[in-house]
Amino acid sequence: MFISFEGIEGSGKSTALEGLCAVLTQKSLAFTRTREPGGSALGKALRALLLDARNKLASEAELFLYLADRAQHVHEVIRPTLDAGGLVLSDRYADSTIVYQGFGRGLDVSTLFHLNETAVSGLWPDITLLFDLAPEEGLMRAQNRNLRMGTAISEGRFEAEDLAFHKRIREGYLSWAQRHPERFRIVDAAVPPGEVLAQTMAHLQGIF
Ligand code: TYD
Repeated sequence: MFISFEGIEGSGKSTALEGLCAVLTQKSLAFTRTREPGGSALGKALRALLLDARNKLASEAELFLYLADRAQHVHEVIRPTLDAGGLVLSDRYADSTIVYQGFGRGLDVSTLFHLNETAVSGLWPDITLLFDLAPEEGLMRAQNRNLRMGTAISEGRFEAEDLAFHKRIREGYLSWAQRHPERFRIVDAAVPPGEVLAQTMAHLQGIF
């Protein structure tokens, strides 16, 4: 079983993922928690390049770095875990490329879909949880977090984008989710973390 977590900056998806992992651990259920970019050794090097606010990347260069990260991630972590019957929980996956590089940067969405297919040999999640939140709120949360952790420069390349960019991301996620209702589940992320986790668990009811 492969579950991905998606949403805008500061949407609380990583906090919900943390909460889900705690519940699974309590139930003694095994899982592999991973993330993009940075889910493999190669990916960690790519992540540093991709998120550093000092790097000015052409959209196409950015795209292929994310795809390289994903291809290695699938090859090294996701596919072997699934083949062994395991549960994979990934903080972001291919939908992030469709939404950020497509709806955000303006690259062609159907081309991105096909490039993703090549990068991951057709592997899409069984379930994708989309944490939906107004970009004004998400951006404020994310910028505060980066300031608190001292990562405004090293991890702040996307937080530095303007509000219009983040609005396109939110709308992009919602419209892409509508096109794939069989796997997307939408979580209202504008409520306190405990309620976000409760919605998450409700969507996954019957799986664990
Ligand atoms: P990260 O610090 O993991 O942010 P978050 O906590 O919001 O997940 O940074 C990942 C950033 O990379 C995020 O801004 C979205 C962006 N991204 C893409 O643009 N395309 C992609 O394919 C992926 C996986 C991420």
